[in-house]
Amino acid sequence: MISDLWYKNAVVYCLSVESFMDSDGDGVGDFRGLTRRLDYLHGLGVTAVWLMPFQASPGRDDGYDVSDFYSVDPRYGTLGDFVEFTHAAKQRGMRVLIDLVVNHTSDQHPWFQSARSDPQSPYRDWYVWSDRKPKSADQGMVFPGVQKTTWTRDPVAKKYYFHRFYEFQPDLNTSNPHVQAEILRIMGFWIQLGVSGFRMDAVPFVIAEKGPDVTTPKEQFQMLRTFREFLQWRKGDSVILAEANVLPEDDMKYFGVDGDRMQMMFNFHVNQRLFYALASGDARPLAEALKETQSKYDTAQWGIFLRNHDELDLGRLDPKQRQAVFDAFGPDKTMQLYDRGIRRRLAPMLNGDRRRLELAYSLMFTLPGTPVMRYGDEIAMGDDLSLPERYCARTPMQWSSEKQGGFSKADKTFLPVISGGGFGFETVNVAQQRRDPNSFLNWIERIIRMRQELPEIGWGDCVSLPTSDEAVLALRYDWRNNAVVILHNLAAEPKEVGFKVGPTDGEPGRLVDLLAQAHSEADEDGRHRIVLEGYGYRWFRVGGLNYLLDRSDI
Ligand code: GLC
Repeated sequence: MISDLWYKNAVVYCLSVESFMDSDGDGVGDFRGLTRRLDYLHGLGVTAVWLMPFQASPGRDDGYDVSDFYSVDPRYGTLGDFVEFTHAAKQRGMRVLIDLVVNHTSDQHPWFQSARSDPQSPYRDWYVWSDRKPKSADQGMVFPGVQKTTWTRDPVAKKYYFHRFYEFQPDLNTSNPHVQAEILRIMGFWIQLGVSGFRMDAVPFVIAEKGPDVTTPKEQFQMLRTFREFLQWRKGDSVILAEANVLPEDDMKYFGVDGDRMQMMFNFHVNQRLFYALASGDARPLAEALKETQSKYDTAQWGIFLRNHDELDLGRLDPKQRQAVFDAFGPDKTMQLYDRGIRRRLAPMLNGDRRRLELAYSLMFTLPGTPVMRYGDEIAMGDDLSLPERYCARTPMQWSSEKQGGFSKADKTFLPVISGGGFGFETVNVAQQRRDPNSFLNWIERIIRMRQELPEIGWGDCVSLPTSDEAVLALRYDWRNNAVVILHNLAAEPKEVGFKVGPTDGEPGRLVDLLAQAHSEADEDGRHRIVLEGYGYRWFRVGGLNYLLDRSDI
């Protein structure tokens, strides 16, 4: 099979331009700074960069409140700088994905300003209005505890407008064909400037019916097909990576039964069970979640992540499981958010414990799908809980032990650089970790390199092998007559596990360790017995290294 699905074996790195590198000393990151850091990302093994919103915005939700979809916020540079950036990425063979935030706009967007002030405005019907406060106004808030309502009265329009998120983010009336056409126009614009696709924000809300009388919003799934078709006509290799925290039974509605909707979705279902597994040492719910989300079409792909720029959302775990994760990783109320999640970065959640960090990232890089890492994870950056809500995990990148962690020459940065303590820039930074061959950064670089050489994980079929211990997750991948077996011990204690690889074209009796010298030969019965240290992991190729994997056409 010849194919060109670049996203199946990609390594995605998410960053915000604002917090990555400041080139002009104003305390805010910019496109020129980011462009200078592309070689760093390339060297790390990143193949696609996902940029968080950088368009003009009042910045009340860190750019997720856009006031001009066709611009670059002047704080980050110009459209010219943007094109230089996408060009520089392309020269290095790297793709660029950008956030597409079209469920809502900023209330400062000229569309909303026009819509609110004139009933005859062509934009009036681009938003969702009601004369009276709908009964459902105190339901469906995405940010409970901070957001009080989903309908707010606008004194200018003298009507209520719907907002799924904060009150300064009025929802677009996405059923309106003019709004739909505008969404396509926005996609077409950025595609033309060199991006390979979009991380589409809040997809279930984008496609939901909206209105004062809507009680159980139906999704308009045909919109997803429209988006995809448009994109693929414009540029055949562009994709949408959907943010859709949905139940497994709905997955295929988003991927499309004919594989004609979203190419990629974040696997929130697995993400939550992964954290439960890390907290409890029990691998079974994770194995179950992998089974429940086995995507059925060859072209579809999961985005696998640990932490993102939002809180770790535990809303879909059962209460006991959720409490177990809170107890282990965010016991203090200040660490929790929106009654459902933890707002910390991963490294502090794991107390900076190197063994557990390696376990977590080894899982991220070997679960079925495409790994999506977050800036700063490669050096195990920490958080600043004195900052409000999700800002605690969005602090400037720590490049060196120089002033402002090498991020900026300014005396004051847009958010303070983390300083002092176990995670301050003085000790946790790129420059220092590059010099140390045993650093976390160098470990991540090696693991990415090995992951890139295992296309079985991105492409293949995955089954979990029964082992003799519930703390151990054993996955086998098969693709083009090659197989790999990956083991993880979620428990703190060492475990000895026994398992059979099952039939293969190669020699199931021999497992070659890809990261260490711990190869395994099966006994006469075909059983492998492997001792894993506490939080240990093993990546094996089945049958030896003399495999012939034809990568020329992927
Ligand atoms: C998504 C984003 C989040 C943002 C929200 C509103 O959930 O991930 O950061 O606040 O949408 O746009």
